[in-house]
Amino acid sequence: MRTPSKMPAANGRISVAPSILSADLWRLGEEVSQMEKAGADWLHVDVMDGHFVPNLSFGPSIVSSLKEKTALPLDVHLMVEEPMLFIEPFAEAGSDLLTVHIESKDEVVYVLESIKKIGVKAGISIKPDTDAALLEPLTDLVDLILVMSVYPGFGGQSFLPESEYQIKRVREIITRSGRNIWLETDGGINPQTAPMAVRAGADALVAGSAIFKAADPVLALKQIRQAAPEI
Ligand code: DX5
Ligand code: ZN
Repeated sequence: MRTPSKMPAANGRISVAPSILSADLWRLGEEVSQMEKAGADWLHVDVMDGHFVPNLSFGPSIVSSLKEKTALPLDVHLMVEEPMLFIEPFAEAGSDLLTVHIESKDEVVYVLESIKKIGVKAGISIKPDTDAALLEPLTDLVDLILVMSVYPGFGGQSFLPESEYQIKRVREIITRSGRNIWLETDGGINPQTAPMAVRAGADALVAGSAIFKAADPVLALKQIRQAAPEI
């Protein structure tokens, strides 16, 4: 039986979500406990199917292992061509939030309604070259909008400067909706780029390599949080 989503509603505070894509998988448990103790808000899990993006990553079994070992809410980012195939198994595994891509093949309204029906929070993501206006009719169905600040598929890329404009546009859409929706940014977030993303309107920051490839991941997490002025 699935446990209900632990994620609170968006509240204006900045949430930091370390992405385990860049973690040392040999020491995953250790790395995750360290992040939990250091005050990470969520754990970001990237799911790649080798079609939507040219890479493979994690399946539902990693989510169920994490669920058993950490109290951090699991923010699962589905970079897959056919999200309908994966919603149920990832929800059953213990995802707290399932984010799908607007560019995937399945009918997005149906996908988002299906996520909500299962009782998991729903997110929608756009790639850097997708028109943010497409999100406008979906705001009633989502708890989070994820703006990709790199082209999805790999960790360790640089924050695309045009993402600033994309984040601003999405913030306007969220404000117009009058709803409490998180605006998450994913890709190239580090202590230098985090302030820009937050000033543009992001209130959730995913960071993979800036945290897990740092000599001191706990310090890196703190630096990202400190660099991001509260909104
Ligand atoms: C990229 C993934 C990201 C990735 C971010 O496709 O969606 O979540 O882990 O990695 P960094 O922070 O290294 O850009
Ligand atoms: Zn991601």
